[in-house]
Amino acid sequence: MAIIPATRTENIEYAIRDIVVLAQKYDNVLYLNIGDPNKSDFHTPKHMIDAVVDAMAKNFNGYAPAEGILEAREAIVADGRKKNIPCTVDDVIITTGVSEAIELALSALVNPGENFLTPNPGYPLYTALVSKLGTELNPYELSENNGWQPDLDSIRKAINDKTRAIIVINPNNPTGSVCDAQILKGILDLAGEHELVVFADEIYDKLVFHEKHTPLAALAGDVPVITFNGLSKSYLVPGWRMGWMMFHNPNGLISDYIDGIKKLVRARLCANHPLQYAIKPALLGQQDHLTKTVDKLRTRGEYTEQRLNAIPGLSCNHINGAFYAFPTIELAHFKFETDKDFVISLLEEEQVLCVHGSGFGRSSAFRIVFLPPMDVLKQAYDRLEEFCIRHYKA
Ligand SMILES: Cc1ncc(COP(=O)(O)O)c(C=O)c1O
Repeated sequence: MAIIPATRTENIEYAIRDIVVLAQKYDNVLYLNIGDPNKSDFHTPKHMIDAVVDAMAKNFNGYAPAEGILEAREAIVADGRKKNIPCTVDDVIITTGVSEAIELALSALVNPGENFLTPNPGYPLYTALVSKLGTELNPYELSENNGWQPDLDSIRKAINDKTRAIIVINPNNPTGSVCDAQILKGILDLAGEHELVVFADEIYDKLVFHEKHTPLAALAGDVPVITFNGLSKSYLVPGWRMGWMMFHNPNGLISDYIDGIKKLVRARLCANHPLQYAIKPALLGQQDHLTKTVDKLRTRGEYTEQRLNAIPGLSCNHINGAFYAFPTIELAHFKFETDKDFVISLLEEEQVLCVHGSGFGRSSAFRIVFLPPMDVLKQAYDRLEEFCIRHYKA
């Protein structure tokens, strides 16, 4: 008899990788689907590689402390202080990527039947965890008419007596938007009023193009915040799986909750040990690569925005950070019924791979990753333009 998987796997989808299966039957596909800088012309800073090789040679290959090695946690605290996030080493836990940190923090907080607020559109890991933890999906809207800023009214309406946390992704995946400080304050006020924890997923905080990023925890005062960050994106090592969470625990409000997280942290032994030796040189060493990365991304982002807004049937908000654009498709002007049909036809006809917006909660948009070099982007947008012109009906 066939073995049946647990029901918690039923609704788990991760469109970013699911869609790749469809692309495998074509040659010459231009991949604009995955947020991995190392698949493009971005390379890991050498001093980080040297630090890891050195750690391995010194035989730091056994288990690490469950919460992470001290020198890396100290470096994370120093980096946090530069951003005005007050914290100590006891407030930091190193994890297997931000992904693990988010899963541990939610697992220790939310019971089946309760909920946490997720941005829509937003990163699909959060919705996958809703299924896995047996909690209820409770999205709030990012407002397309307001540059994809979180909509405070929508947050207010979504909060109910089973809500435990509000997730803020800033800069946002998939929209490339950066939150205004005023909106962040509004979110903190609502969280304070309803005694909620705010999760600040700030994995793209150093990849901003025009204005400075405002860390949520720096504004939090007496509202508890957990900040999530890691090396994957800004330090160009997504495959190293190095992330962390950092607690802002005013008046000990979340001390019991932190103890709960730490129990789960000990039960999974530790994050990858030798790779943790890259954290200090990354955060406190040379940052030259970061300036170059941001310059390239700003140029590619501006080009992306300009090309998309010149294509009939598409419109794209201003991109302020990360490496994503999330253009809206005026589906009424195309023969396609859904965003997924649009994306699949684009792949079949033009061999350009993007991800349908419904994979991020929005069914009339799609996500473009603009990490590839300009010549690849030009070719991809030329093909996208021809495709849209061909299918557009006024
Ligand atoms: C908003 C957001 N959070 C978390 C992650 C996962 O990061 P990590 O590689 O550290 O697990 C990603 C990866 O794309 C992301 O976009």
